[in-house]
Amino acid sequence: MKDRQSPLAPLDPSHAHVSRIYDYLLDGKDNYAVDRAVGDRIIATVPTAQIGVRAQRAVLGRVVRHLVKEAGIRQLIDIGSGLPTADNVHQIAQRVVGDCKVIYADNDPVVLTHARALLADDRATIAVAGDLTDPQAIIDDPDVRAHVDWDKPIGLLLCGILHYLPDSENPRELTETLCAALPSGSYVFIHHLLDSDDPGSAELRAVMRSGMESSTFRTKDQILTFFGNLELMPPGLIIVPEWRPDADTLSAEKYPVLRLACAGVGRKPSA
Ligand SMILES: C[S@@+](CC[C@H](N)C(=O)[O-])C[C@H]1O[C@@H](n2cnc3c(N)ncnc32)[C@H](O)[C@@H]1O
Repeated sequence: MKDRQSPLAPLDPSHAHVSRIYDYLLDGKDNYAVDRAVGDRIIATVPTAQIGVRAQRAVLGRVVRHLVKEAGIRQLIDIGSGLPTADNVHQIAQRVVGDCKVIYADNDPVVLTHARALLADDRATIAVAGDLTDPQAIIDDPDVRAHVDWDKPIGLLLCGILHYLPDSENPRELTETLCAALPSGSYVFIHHLLDSDDPGSAELRAVMRSGMESSTFRTKDQILTFFGNLELMPPGLIIVPEWRPDADTLSAEKYPVLRLACAGVGRKPSA
């Protein structure tokens, strides 16, 4: 079992870290030379990679708006929240409902430092150290328990994180533990890199493997298992641009890189 007092990996600027590579690909400033080197290799191999990364942020925004506006969710837990960027989950949610509660959890100490600085004046949003490989520790964290009402539906966001867990970490069991803790009527959003016969999938996989911690591309059928007994909401588990697109959502016909990841939302039925 992990040390529950310190789920954070120590900060090591000599090793590339996914949160900071992702920040670089989003044109952020919170990254080191080693992260930029990996980011540049990704762009050299898949020149439209940044379009894929922006599409990931965009679908996260569409899901958050949908959950808060249409599904009536008033509390969100975002695991693997990443470094703060231009439009963050709490800002998107609180534009719809001002006091929507948000919990960010991440295992990168840099993410925590930046999130806490951003949230200094925000009482509806907190950031906690948490590792998806120990979901029970996140569920039992006293700040997490206190910040949301565990008798009311919660929106759990697992955006761009499950593919960093190899099968040996039993991601199916980890999502099951989280789903079991959620009240009925809760929603779970998953964004995941897709193992497909698209040539771009193999290229992206190779460059990601060479530069950072392991990433596991999975097939739709494999990703579907992470929803367990949840009801998959329309339009199902589908490539990112096809999940409730906005008028300005870029299409996979024009940008094939957008076929390399899928998104879906499940709802926990009544017991
Ligand atoms: C690619 S970023 C995604 C950020 C954001 N969710 C999004 O989609 O825009 C992945 C994030 O997951 C975090 N992460 C990776 N493995 C994790 C784990 N086992 N537990 C918690 N966070 C993790 C990384 O630190 C990083 O911030």
